[in-house]
Amino acid sequence: MITTPVLELSTPGGIVKISRATTAHPGEMRELYVAGGWWDDAWDESHLSAIVEMGFAFVAAEAPDGRWIGMGRLISDGVSDAYLQDIVVLPQWEGYGIGSAIVRFLLSICKDSGIDWIGTISEPETEYFYRRFGFARMNRYTPMRYER
Ligand SMILES: CC(C)(COP(=O)(O)OP(=O)(O)OC[C@H]1O[C@@H](n2cnc3c(N)ncnc32)[C@H](O)[C@@H]1OP(=O)(O)O)[C@@H](O)C(=O)NCCC(=O)NCCS
Repeated sequence: MITTPVLELSTPGGIVKISRATTAHPGEMRELYVAGGWWDDAWDESHLSAIVEMGFAFVAAEAPDGRWIGMGRLISDGVSDAYLQDIVVLPQWEGYGIGSAIVRFLLSICKDSGIDWIGTISEPETEYFYRRFGFARMNRYTPMRYER
């Protein structure tokens, strides 16, 4: 059983709570996906619900007013391998440690589950962000995507 507690982060905008979510907040998730540049107009509420409910772990950062202002998730079988996906913080909340707290929270979930193979695909400009947690380039491997 996963016992990772809620993480509270003091920011100039107030206390931000980082915790696992099991139910989607479609409006706020849309805003976060747009901020990350990953929104797809074909997506609807059921798509966003599936992202939260069917993945291994979904983590939300909640502002003092209850709005989601950051998110991140894990795609995993829950015992062996995991991929960090969709880590994003709304621009007006950037630079307060929220993104780092989300990544640390996701890594602690992996640790609690005994998962030690953890990957992510970083955009070139955010490589610096992941390196600080111990991620490194896989020099002998090439990230690939099925292009139909
Ligand atoms: C990457 C991202 C999640 C970081 O979130 P954040 O809450 O600002 O991160 P933190 O406040 O924890 O900052 C972590 C470090 O990155 C630095 N940093 C954050 N945003 C930065 C930016 N846009 N440019 C340069 N450095 C930045 C911070 O200064 C900090 O470094 P420091 O502790 O040495 O000062 C956020 O900028 C974001 O949502 N970007 C758009 C989506 C994205 O690119 N996601 C990553 C994925 S593929």
